Amino acid sequence: MTSGAVRAIPQLGRAALAAAALGLVAAWVWAPDPAPLDGDAAGTLATPAPAMPARLQQEPLQPLPAPPVLDAGKVALGEALFADRRLSDDDSLACAGCHDLAHGGADRTAVSRGVRGAAGQMNAPSVFNVSLHLAWFWDGRAATLEQQVAGPVHNPVEMASNWAQVLGKLRQDGALVARFASHYPQGLTADTVADALATFERSLITPDARFDRYLRGAADALSADEIEGYERFKRNGCASCHNGAAVGGNMFQRFGVVGSFFDGRVARTADLGRLNVTGREEDRHVFKVPSLRNVALTAPYFHDGSATTLEQAVRLMGRHQIGRELTDDDVRLIVAFLHTLTGRWKGHELK
Ligand code: HEC
Ligand code: HEC
Repeated sequence: MTSGAVRAIPQLGRAALAAAALGLVAAWVWAPDPAPLDGDAAGTLATPAPAMPARLQQEPLQPLPAPPVLDAGKVALGEALFADRRLSDDDSLACAGCHDLAHGGADRTAVSRGVRGAAGQMNAPSVFNVSLHLAWFWDGRAATLEQQVAGPVHNPVEMASNWAQVLGKLRQDGALVARFASHYPQGLTADTVADALATFERSLITPDARFDRYLRGAADALSADEIEGYERFKRNGCASCHNGAAVGGNMFQRFGVVGSFFDGRVARTADLGRLNVTGREEDRHVFKVPSLRNVALTAPYFHDGSATTLEQAVRLMGRHQIGRELTDDDVRLIVAFLHTLTGRWKGHELK
């Protein structure tokens, strides 16, 4: 969906918005899992996805696909780089320092701190399932995962480095140079570092959440409260924006469709959202709809980390995205449903 849809929403009344959401739910057509992104090597990571029962094919949310077929050697190289502090100016901070894979792929602080304690303005999103998004960063300024990787390396409030400095350090590491040479004919370059990291990111799919087992037909995978929470998530129109396999990540929408979320706050450049990318006034406060996969693990919430709990985030979504004060029961049940979106990686449930 483009920002044309964003513009249309404020003109809709509450009832019309809910009807539009339900229309979307009813019109949803199940699409098969996308083709593998990289089929050039003997894959060790892919497993076939079980079929979905017909009655659930109309659901706005879909089970996560299995990870695509990827070159396992490049994935391992990317995984090593992800944990490598030499990608930062003073060798103090790796990607994993802000995207802790043992903690939902995020950093559990409101806004991330970069090298030498530099304060950023943004909350670190999870890197899990990130390959399913339509663009990267809260404002979608990176069009490919390879482009995205260059962002934190150069960002002065993150790793504050540059490719020349990073490559200078990595090229002194004979073992790493040899590993690159065995996987890439061109050896260790900015492009191959970005490719390895992006390949690793594509492997970060977290299938087999309890909710996915429910969608695939295991009726007892969710409790009655969790199922009711999913129903209220749909009935309240949440699924009009948070849908698909990643439960988000596939469109841009204004934060504050009904009333302004930003009134009474200190104006910050980061809050302008996609306006910073497109320069268009209609993109003010428009952000990528975040994926809600593993969301129970990634507090605090929103691009500025201003919602400390999932309950608070859900209540504010009701108020500002659908124009409704959710009841305590709505919030409790929707939060219970959101907890069922926690998936598995490397054979373990994420925590
Ligand atoms: C200082 C903490 C920090 C470090 C280090 C860091 N990131 Fe991030 N990352 C963030 C923040 C904050 C954002 C959101 C920034 C924004 O949207 O403007 C982000 C965004 C991302 C995204 C986009 C997620 C989305 O939903 O669009 C990916 C992918 C990512 N980082 C991967 C990496 C990789 C790979 C590295 C190492 C090369 C890295 N990050 C290093 C904090 C960090
Ligand atoms: C009109 C589109 C839209 C609707 C409807 C909507 N959301 Fe959102 N949601 C967003 C956007 C955009 C953000 C990102 C806001 C920001 O931080 O900039 C978001 C953020 C969130 C977050 C925080 C995620 C994170 O990682 O920080 C949660 C949780 C959430 N929404 C749940 C819900 C629930 C529950 C509903 C229904 C009551 C709902 N949303 C309805 C667009 C929507």
